Amino acid sequence: MVDEDRKRPHAIFFPYPLQGHVIPAVHFATKLASAGFTITFVNTHFVHHQISKSGADGRGGDDIFTASRKAGLDIRYETISDGFPLGFDRSLNHDQFWEGALHVLPAHVEEFVERKVSSKEKVSVLIADTFFVWPSTVAKKYNLLYVSFWTEPALVLTIYYHLHLLRSHGHFGSQDNRTDTIDYIPGVRAVEPTDLMSYLQPSCKDTSSICHRIIDKAFDDVKRADFIIINTVRELEEETISALHQTQPTYAIGPIFPTGFIDSPVATSMWPESNCTQWLDSKPPGSVLYVSFGSYAHASKPAIHEIARGLLQSGVNFIWVVRPDIVSSDDPDPLPVGFEQKAREEGRGLVVVWCSQNKVLSHCAVGGFLTHCGWNSILESIWCGVPLLCFPLYTDQFTNRKLTVDDWKVGINLCDGDWVIRGEEVSKKIDRLMRGETAEDLRVKIKKVKKVLEDAWAAGGSSETGFRQFVEDIEVKINQKSK
Ligand code: UDX
Repeated sequence: MVDEDRKRPHAIFFPYPLQGHVIPAVHFATKLASAGFTITFVNTHFVHHQISKSGADGRGGDDIFTASRKAGLDIRYETISDGFPLGFDRSLNHDQFWEGALHVLPAHVEEFVERKVSSKEKVSVLIADTFFVWPSTVAKKYNLLYVSFWTEPALVLTIYYHLHLLRSHGHFGSQDNRTDTIDYIPGVRAVEPTDLMSYLQPSCKDTSSICHRIIDKAFDDVKRADFIIINTVRELEEETISALHQTQPTYAIGPIFPTGFIDSPVATSMWPESNCTQWLDSKPPGSVLYVSFGSYAHASKPAIHEIARGLLQSGVNFIWVVRPDIVSSDDPDPLPVGFEQKAREEGRGLVVVWCSQNKVLSHCAVGGFLTHCGWNSILESIWCGVPLLCFPLYTDQFTNRKLTVDDWKVGINLCDGDWVIRGEEVSKKIDRLMRGETAEDLRVKIKKVKKVLEDAWAAGGSSETGFRQFVEDIEVKINQKSK
């Protein structure tokens, strides 16, 4: 029986209930199941409902992991309430929803975990997104190992992790925050306050918002994790990861993608995907700019209008993902009047609500990506060798921009200096990204970083080794605990 347990540790996996977190969580869960874990993957009813409604789960049966189980993996799928009815608009009622995540969701989680551990399922591990505020308490109560799953760069994690240092040095949380370079975070040589995550920037005056309260609790909680898993690559963030590892066992195992990159057997999209392949097939190689601002951030209506103006002025072909809540879910059609029709009539532009981003980025017609700098988007774009035009909007995206533009030089900024956006500037920047000397230079640089990513997951590469090491280490710890 002990042998049997050693072969199949059983982990309950709670992804954060947001699109950009669910995607890497699904693929990490799949990797763990392929390595012999039993996984119980738990989405909220709402996330599950969105995926089902999008039609993407038509891939195969009863739940999103049906095809994985058919392929022999032991991944079970369950759902819990986040405390709100399905029809509640979580995007429009942002603060109310996150108050629920702080105060109500933990009770549903605990009830679920209690049910699992008191059954005969032999659960030994809790894997939870680092942004949750409850994992260490729940893990301790039910005698589980706690694995914290971080879906953003190590740099972002370590800044939150050392929030107390930012406070004590006066870079955060004081009346008049310092604006000079931050150079005292272990493993981070230098970071400018304007490159911090939106919640920590000097311009952020309300530091008692619901997001700040979640951050305070979550990044205290992570300090009690048995293991930290990061969706990044050691060679890209060597010093930061080493410094974190000295404090807690930390494993860089990115980039976490579906095995076939474009063909995932598991449905993850929360909006219906438009198929863009036929349209892309009709365009010359490298001629299309892909524009998407991810799954969560909002852009202002004036910014959307200036981008629309810049796109038309630039003459470039484009696919633009315009989510119905990109400005706000009570303004579902924020594009300038006639824009979409003009773009379609000229055969130059396609506007969609959602698409398979990996499929689009992999198409040879795509030559650039105007992005909000979500971490998944950056990793996917580098994987496809597509240079980035960076327009960060929210949360970690400012810090991710620094890595992309300043450190790795695989992208350029959409706006210089202020983040005020103008159509003429947008058009000029698109031109620099897609044609000429800068474009050539970016392509050369991104090929090199792409190789770093590829090597990391090749046999013996840092991420493959890191993943194997994590599996070995957690199995040892499970067996020590069960003695
Ligand atoms: C937020 C954070 O900013 C990000 O850093 C974190 O990793 C997740 O949460 P989000 O807006 O979700 O970001 O962006 P991103 O990380 O880029 O994730 C979006 C995901 O949705 C990507 O995997 C992308 O491929 C996918 N996507 C996006 C689609 O499949 N289709 C689309 O049309 C748009």
